[in-house]
Amino acid sequence: MARSDKKRVVLAYSGGLDTSVVTRWLVERGWEVVCLTVDVGFLDADPGLEERALAAGAERLVVADAKETFARSFIFPAMMAGALYEGSYPLATALARPLIAKLLVDVARDEGATAVAHGCTGKGNDQVRFDVSTAALAPDLQILAPVREWELTTRASEIVYARAHKIPINVSEEKSYSVDENLWGRSIEAGALEDPWDEPLEDVWEWTTSVDDAPEEPGYVEISFQQGVPVALDGEELDPVSLILRMHELAGAHGVGRIDMVENRLVGIKSREVYEAPAAVALLAAHRGLESITLSKQQLRLKHRLMQDYADLIYDGLWFTAHHQDLAAFTRSVQRHVSGDVRLRLHKGQATVVGRRSPRSLYQLSLATYDEGDMYDVSAAPGFIQIWGLPVRVQADVQLLRQEGGPLDVTSS
Ligand code: ARG
Repeated sequence: MARSDKKRVVLAYSGGLDTSVVTRWLVERGWEVVCLTVDVGFLDADPGLEERALAAGAERLVVADAKETFARSFIFPAMMAGALYEGSYPLATALARPLIAKLLVDVARDEGATAVAHGCTGKGNDQVRFDVSTAALAPDLQILAPVREWELTTRASEIVYARAHKIPINVSEEKSYSVDENLWGRSIEAGALEDPWDEPLEDVWEWTTSVDDAPEEPGYVEISFQQGVPVALDGEELDPVSLILRMHELAGAHGVGRIDMVENRLVGIKSREVYEAPAAVALLAAHRGLESITLSKQQLRLKHRLMQDYADLIYDGLWFTAHHQDLAAFTRSVQRHVSGDVRLRLHKGQATVVGRRSPRSLYQLSLATYDEGDMYDVSAAPGFIQIWGLPVRVQADVQLLRQEGGPLDVTSS
């Protein structure tokens, strides 16, 4: 068939077994495949990557370095929102998906492709994120998800297929965990993790030192923020990617950032997931520490309520929505005075805020102190309490004191 007669598809290619097999599977069905590998951090500078894509039948491999965009426009906004899915997962994988979808669409346009493809299964969240994001950005593009429909339903059958088609297989592919890595964290699932009663084996962890092996001496790091964005470590200004990588090293060495949870997937399944996110856990803690002195009680309350919505929308693949724009606008606004420094203590798996300061701090020593220099007018306290307690006294008098069974039982009415 002449080249121009063929339909072209751009495939999100990781270099792993799944996407290599997907490449060949698409080629066999008459597609011309352009593979796209997006570097969102920790992409092995693997010279074999292109070779593998070509061996699998791709026409060519495009590698896009998206680390800077990922850090600036995806990670930091999520960090400023305090986004943690179900209170624990910093959303590394979930955040990268809409960016990869965006780049798939861009490359599809450049290459004159009519479709994009990914190697997600039909049981996970990632298929939803890719499909929904692509549909938002380019409703005309067809979306192919071979793993959702093909007959290669087990890893073993994929390996047989790969061997039959001379697709090179890494030894590590035989490993049972499914791993996804980027700047914001490492997600590990399947294999020995599937029984939620079993403690993760030590071989799960690659980015963090175990608490046993972590240094006895704590480490300290000072993080500077400008309007919610981390800009320097220990006084040294760093670009977003370098800052995250430095934090990753420092926190990982002290065993910070191991997360073991059972989460609720969007597709209705409960799933045991393990994450390593040393930089995310440390930076989120530091950022919260700075917010505690720069935001009012009401700002903190509202932000906390909205944080869950923000985390859910990232998790649920709703990045390209007006709801997101609204929450992002609030987040930017609420961060405008979140500038200053936080001192973090890293020790035996914990990242603890031990110091915070800001030129915009709402913490006033002259009001808080129990020592010399107290500016708080204690004589005003009784009057305040008089007014504050007024409705309480009225209600107690009219209702509680006249209640049968006596006034003390406030839990029954
Ligand atoms: N459960 C996480 C999420 O939905 C991580 C998925 C990671 N994928 C993987 N292949 N390990 O975002």
